[in-house]
Amino acid sequence: MFFLEESEIIQLTKIRTAISNNISFSDLEKLCNKVAENINDKGFAFTYAASLLASKDLIEEAMKMFSQNKEDTFCSIMYDYLRETGSFKLADKVFESADPYNIYTQTDFFKNHQEGALRHILKFANETPQPNSTEPVTILDIGVGNGVFITKIVNEIIPLYDIKSIRLIILDQSEDMLRMAKKYCQENIKIQIEVITICCKIQDITNEQIQIVQKLKPIWFVNAGLSIHHMPWEKKIPMLLNLRGFSAHLVLTEVNWNHDLPASYSPELFYSVAKSYGVFSESILHLSISEERKKLCLNNFPIAEAINIIKQPRANRIDYHTTIKEWKRIADEAGFKTGEAEATYIYNNKPFAFVMEFKGKNN
Ligand SMILES: C[S@@+](CC[C@H](N)C(=O)[O-])C[C@H]1O[C@@H](n2cnc3c(N)ncnc32)[C@H](O)[C@@H]1O
Repeated sequence: MFFLEESEIIQLTKIRTAISNNISFSDLEKLCNKVAENINDKGFAFTYAASLLASKDLIEEAMKMFSQNKEDTFCSIMYDYLRETGSFKLADKVFESADPYNIYTQTDFFKNHQEGALRHILKFANETPQPNSTEPVTILDIGVGNGVFITKIVNEIIPLYDIKSIRLIILDQSEDMLRMAKKYCQENIKIQIEVITICCKIQDITNEQIQIVQKLKPIWFVNAGLSIHHMPWEKKIPMLLNLRGFSAHLVLTEVNWNHDLPASYSPELFYSVAKSYGVFSESILHLSISEERKKLCLNNFPIAEAINIIKQPRANRIDYHTTIKEWKRIADEAGFKTGEAEATYIYNNKPFAFVMEFKGKNN
């Protein structure tokens, strides 16, 4: 949702070229001031230069540059991170505990987004009955996480059709998450439940695992909540083709960010990273918790992800968040029709996060 004009990209590319040519710091500052005159978001000239310097591990220079735009949330948190850690690397123990994620779930962003997604999924379930009336009703959840969200979904759907028993196929790349989610679903879903776990990255699902899912059809719908943005565009299409083979319906909940197609180190990529993670981080900074806990969440979640996207070559990134417009194109290529995206969190009158239905074209 954060884009640059073509003329701004041309201006900002001058900064990248100058840094590649080892421009002196004082000349770089002059250049940033000049570029700033020609772009809408003036401060981004400094953010871009600082992020490029940081990606080259020029920490002192990066800090000086970030400090030129410290009223911007991204610059301010990156400045603090570099001052404290002295490096532009992920902390060694990133995500060792579930704490950073638990803190994030207290944010307004998370709560609004999840409520909006739940409302939409209920509407979808109401309008799209399960394929046949036999039970158990089967749902496939991709990237189930701790199981809390799918449990909420199931418990709200039960009364719509007076469902008596449910079969949940939960898939996640993490054994720990699957264990936790299975236990949570079994303890908190209010009707008879069977849970089948599949451990894999969805883009690397094996033929054997595909067969297991195929045997459990019909599947009412596939739910994918913030879990299928971890692969580049070219892998998203075969991944969706597999999902279309499982069910005619997919409900996608995602952030509307531009981190897939832009090239590494490009102004477009860094602009989306700085703005998106800036807004995301504001929701963490607004929490009424200790500074220490805010930092724990910031360092291990938004900052860790931002550094990864900024520093890694495209093939090695962990996140490839994709805009609504691109998801529609990907869905089309994979044989899905898409419904209108509904915003679950709005920023500057634009959808920052959204939920959208995909329907198999043959159905
Ligand atoms: C942000 S959590 C979302 C949890 C839950 N779906 C929700 O909406 O609250 C993302 C989950 O997706 C899993 N995940 C990440 N990449 C994945 C992949 N390529 N295939 C399957 N699961 C993945 C992670 O392990 C994590 O449990």
